[in-house]
Amino acid sequence: MAEQTAPDAPVMNFYTRRWVRPEDLNANGTLFGGSLLRWIDEEAAIYAILQLGNERVVTKYMSEIDFVSSAWEGDLIELGLVATHFGRTSMTMRCEVRNMITRDSILTINKIVFVGLDEHGSPLEHGYSSITYDRDRIPRRHGSPIPQARPER
Ligand SMILES: CC(C)(COP(=O)(O)OP(=O)(O)OC[C@H]1O[C@@H](n2cnc3c(N)ncnc32)[C@H](O)[C@@H]1OP(=O)(O)O)[C@@H](O)C(=O)NCCC(=O)NCCS
Repeated sequence: MAEQTAPDAPVMNFYTRRWVRPEDLNANGTLFGGSLLRWIDEEAAIYAILQLGNERVVTKYMSEIDFVSSAWEGDLIELGLVATHFGRTSMTMRCEVRNMITRDSILTINKIVFVGLDEHGSPLEHGYSSITYDRDRIPRRHGSPIPQARPER
């Protein structure tokens, strides 16, 4: 049975759009699952980096993957993620991929777990318990300083 979403549950944002190209097809002429999973894993890693404020995030677990329907060459698809749980060192996300035009679901993954690591590769406590919608946790290396006005010559 489909999982119910609580009325006050955070809304899933569809951040990334993809154009299904010939190199992404399987022998059946539809979107290759391996390409889709690579895109999801990368998208989830970026989401985890921004939520946990840590570049050293790794995929720990992915639950059952339900390929609901196919996508064909030329289709426009979009990838959605939402954090569903913040643990001590991990965070859990839910993922949906859908056709951008028809909104028909292509894939769902109920549970993707990422773990933030320290410089030794050990799980690192992140201290967060809720989603940020700002860019306030971006790891320092990616935080560009506000551009300074050029000095007068
Ligand atoms: C990530 C890794 C360091 C975690 O090590 P570990 O010994 O399992 O560490 P822990 O037992 O402390 O668990 C760390 C977190 O993962 C969670 N976790 C562990 N196994 C899990 C599982 N099967 N499902 C869901 N969550 C799991 C734990 O609950 C814990 O979360 P919390 O701290 O928020 O409560 C280790 O498993 C690893 O290096 N795995 C390989 C990761 C990888 O290479 N991924 C693919 C490429 S990115």
